[in-house]
Amino acid sequence: MVKQIQIAIDGPAGAGKSTIAKIVAENLGFTYIDTGAMYRAVTNKAMSQNIDLSDADSLEKMLHDTSIILEPSQNGQLVFVDGENVTEAIRSNEVTSNVSEVAAHANIREILVAKQQELAARGGIVMDGRDIATHVLKDAELKIFMSASVEERAKRRFLDNERRGIPSTIENLKKEIALRDQLDSEREASPLIQAEDAIYLDTTELSIEQAAQEILNLAKRQMD
Ligand code: CDP
Ligand code: CDP
Repeated sequence: MVKQIQIAIDGPAGAGKSTIAKIVAENLGFTYIDTGAMYRAVTNKAMSQNIDLSDADSLEKMLHDTSIILEPSQNGQLVFVDGENVTEAIRSNEVTSNVSEVAAHANIREILVAKQQELAARGGIVMDGRDIATHVLKDAELKIFMSASVEERAKRRFLDNERRGIPSTIENLKKEIALRDQLDSEREASPLIQAEDAIYLDTTELSIEQAAQEILNLAKRQMD
């Protein structure tokens, strides 16, 4: 029986967290949880209801009346909000540009973090986000802080967007990524920082397979 550990992967946008986390989870037979999708789901619903994204109380009220279900699927994870499949909708440019504002509200984080901890409680989990190692899963057996140069991350996002049919340019993506990284790193509530006991993994020069293998090697050491 495989030891059911928790693996936390944090880092800035486009570092490769979700792609690599999915492969690691599949390889170990673990569940993959993309916490960014939760913040995106809240942002998407709030925008569709014209809620002021700076109004933490209104957002919290909305969230109390919202069902967010993450369902593991072949391609990673499906996201349902109030029964509607929003997996693709939450990746729009509009949601991406606004999600960091919503994610900065401490009350919203508290509700979503409780849900994430509940999902991870049984172990056998690979969870990615910004505050997983520092806050959500402080006792995770393996913590990775994944990064890559802004240039490389923007290039990756550009190719991603092309595949999804989302219009973008590398220059604009560089700006959007840098701004989001700054908002995520400088906010008061659980900012994006490397946990003291996390291992730094720079994926700029690594293929997806190489990065996944690095984490699998580290995970197997924890599982022996
Ligand atoms: O995939 P990408 O790197 O673009 O972002 P994401 O993982 O989908 O996360 C979207 C946004 O949600 C981030 O830029 C953060 O503002 C927020 N987030 C967070 O604050 N804490 C997390 N654990 C996960 C995401
Ligand atoms: O989740 P995060 O925002 O950290 O990044 P991602 O969505 O997993 O990765 C962004 C894009 O970079 C995806 O299209 C990956 O296939 C690609 N990627 C890559 O080309 N090389 C890597 N070493 C990691 C990711």
